[in-house]
Amino acid sequence: MVEEQIEEKIAIEIPETEETKSQEMGEELLNKIVQCLVSNGKLIIVAINGHGKSNAMKHILRFLINSQEYKNGRYRIRITDTTDVWRWSYDSIPFIDITKTQKVPSEEKALLLDLGFSDSDANTRIIENLLRYDWIEQRENINKNQGQIQTYRITAIEEMQNVLGSYGLNGKSGKFFLKVVSEGRNLGIFILGTSQRFADLSTKFVERTRYFLLGAVSGSNDIQKIKAMMFSDQARKVIDCLLGLKRGEFLFLDKERPEEGSFIIYFPLFNPIGKPWEYNEKVPTKIEARRAFL
Ligand SMILES: Nc1ncnc2c1ncn2[C@@H]1O[C@H](COP(=O)(O)OP(=O)(O)O)[C@@H](O)[C@H]1O
Ligand SMILES: [Mg+2]
Repeated sequence: MVEEQIEEKIAIEIPETEETKSQEMGEELLNKIVQCLVSNGKLIIVAINGHGKSNAMKHILRFLINSQEYKNGRYRIRITDTTDVWRWSYDSIPFIDITKTQKVPSEEKALLLDLGFSDSDANTRIIENLLRYDWIEQRENINKNQGQIQTYRITAIEEMQNVLGSYGLNGKSGKFFLKVVSEGRNLGIFILGTSQRFADLSTKFVERTRYFLLGAVSGSNDIQKIKAMMFSDQARKVIDCLLGLKRGEFLFLDKERPEEGSFIIYFPLFNPIGKPWEYNEKVPTKIEARRAFL
């Protein structure tokens, strides 16, 4: 009888501890992902439509928003969405509809920007402008603080192939984006992006990115891109791994240390806490001026 009770207890306890352990591991790995984003300045989530990229990005951004650094004002987060999805399905942060006002408040620590233009060039220009402000303000702040970065600015870009497409970093118009991609990290400017296909992303961007979250990928084009990123036997393993992933599961890939630095992480269905609220622009009563970065 006593033995039976002990056995029962063990049977109940083991799964509980295991679950806690794997949850703790999940948190630890999420922390690692965030640290990688901050150390390399870029993280790209690539998977086919419906795999859970936006869902994963929501978890990563919530993790950042819940961090002590965020509370201390170390992170400033801008989320750009062209699909009107986030405003109905994210946590309670302010949002602005950029088609109504192009003035982006700078004091908000986290802000959701709805880029509702059907013209993707217009959306690209808005993001470019935001990053130009970031660039200039970060430089000024860093100079004021004797070379110290006080605040990290994170721009989350949904479906970034629309902004930095295959040709997005070429030519004159792409010069600035390329600068952000190559040197933004030194100024504390970070980019977190999602994309459905590797093949749609600028090679220059992919080359300069060390960390990826990969879900199911589509087509031979993307397989070729993965093969081009690393040694062929490693690429083979990565591709095999991706074939077995289900919705919500991602392979975190450290391109430079694929064997030691990679793991699989599962993001459960995101459960929003509250909902985004429309930021109320204070109507200016005085003459105002601001810099134009042309
Ligand atoms: N782990 C999960 N479990 C259940 N449903 C999920 C999970 N992750 C995402 N979803 C749901 O699947 C759908 C697609 O997810 P989404 O993040 O929009 O994919 P993507 O951005 O890759 O197209 C959404 O309805 C989302 O809520
Ligand atoms: Mg999405």
